[in-house]
Amino acid sequence: MADKKAKDDTTQNMGKSFTLTDNQSGKQYNLPVIEGSTGPDVIDVRRLYADTDHFTYDPGFTSTGSCESKVTFIDGDKGILRYRGFDINDLAEHSDFMGICYLLLYGELPNKDQKKKFVHDVTYHTLLQEQISVFYQGFRRDSHPMAIMCGVVGALSAFYHDSTDINNPRHRMIASYRLIAKMPTIAAYAYKYSIGQPFVYPRNDLKYSENFLHMMYATPCEDYKVNPVLARAMDRILILHADHEQNASTSTVRLAGSSGANPFACIAAGIASLWGPAHGGANEAVLNMLEEIGSKDRIPEFIKRAKDKDDPFRLMGFGHRVYKNYDPRAKVMEHTCHEVLDELGVKDEPLLELAMELERIALEDEYFVAKKLYPNVDFYSGIIFRAMGIPTSMFTVLFAVARTVGWVAQWNEMIEDPSQKIGRPRQLYTGHTKRKYVPLHARV
Ligand code: SDX
Repeated sequence: MADKKAKDDTTQNMGKSFTLTDNQSGKQYNLPVIEGSTGPDVIDVRRLYADTDHFTYDPGFTSTGSCESKVTFIDGDKGILRYRGFDINDLAEHSDFMGICYLLLYGELPNKDQKKKFVHDVTYHTLLQEQISVFYQGFRRDSHPMAIMCGVVGALSAFYHDSTDINNPRHRMIASYRLIAKMPTIAAYAYKYSIGQPFVYPRNDLKYSENFLHMMYATPCEDYKVNPVLARAMDRILILHADHEQNASTSTVRLAGSSGANPFACIAAGIASLWGPAHGGANEAVLNMLEEIGSKDRIPEFIKRAKDKDDPFRLMGFGHRVYKNYDPRAKVMEHTCHEVLDELGVKDEPLLELAMELERIALEDEYFVAKKLYPNVDFYSGIIFRAMGIPTSMFTVLFAVARTVGWVAQWNEMIEDPSQKIGRPRQLYTGHTKRKYVPLHARV
């Protein structure tokens, strides 16, 4: 769909509308259409219940716009993803993650001075309050790091209560910087805790992704130099995962934030939602699936299972609610996968060979073609992370590190939206109608 002519006010009513007719009474209702700058228009149903005494019904929100946003645009049919109007392929090739964070938060790419100040300010928030490191001691060493992330991020409001007044723009931005800055530290600490190594503090002389890999792999015993190719690959992966419109975890953050909850609690809710294997947990599930398949000759068995309605198995890393074409991020991830394996001298990585063969077979299979099921962002990421020495249980943690900027950008946009109110969906009730109470002695 071509971009519509640029307008200042994307919420202006263009006079377009739909008419809804009650076929019993013949009464007609006018539903105005609101036109955005690009993508599908929306039918404004805000008055529907008041006028018709009926709710809309859309489990999973397949046809429902929950908000107005200027942050990210996706065209699922064309496989287009843009952050603030810039195409993801251009951003992945030419920008770095700090530049993307500035873009998502402020709406424009930073100039040199803006970038320098932003990087400085974020860098000087990477250190965690020392007592937080004691918090980790309460977890078992074999705790899943996503469980630790949910706990530690949710607890941040106990340590940074001075930036939780959501109606104060300065508080909101400090909390946003703190979350973006501290997520790599929290993630690396969760990894170090799981392997019984001491925490490695963030360094102010290292760039964001380099700092993260240093905290993951350095030890106090010797200097550790991060491989610049791996740091660049990690930075690009963070860019690809930074935001994605109103996905499940972002919608969770918005809904939690709509009640006025503090930003740390909202992001913890987003982390919990991302953990699901249908969402951000898919990268971990893809690797587990590839290891279960084991060899190319077993691929047909798993393709058959994925198509079997009676089998809960899904081809992990395939399919998407919005993309009915190739996920543009998956292509960049595949290219990055080859780049990392080449840099590490990994030849003929069996899991990559298996993944590429699985993709080839699936994309020729009528079931996947008919249902427009293509590889998504999670299909190749696990292979890259595994090659970098990152344990499978940390894969979704990295997704959460990247998505934090998207969550806080969308959270800020929601708070600043003058039409924003607490999210409170209704339902189609199909349970018991009124029943007479039965005392215990009379129950059979
Ligand atoms: C992410 O929303 C986002 O933007 C998410 C994300 C982001 O950046 O935030 O892009 C990140 O979560 C990517 C998706 C990662 N998840 C997976 O890879 C898990 C496997 N994928 C499926 O679970 C599924 O494709 C979903 C959850 C991603 C999408 O599910 P939908 O949109 O609810 O689609 P659906 O389940 O209704 O599927 C439509 C049909 C169904 O068949 P029918 O009932 O119509 O006969 O396609 C089938 C499904 O059975 N199908 C699959 C399949 N995905 C969908 N069949 C086999 N394998 C699959 N992977």
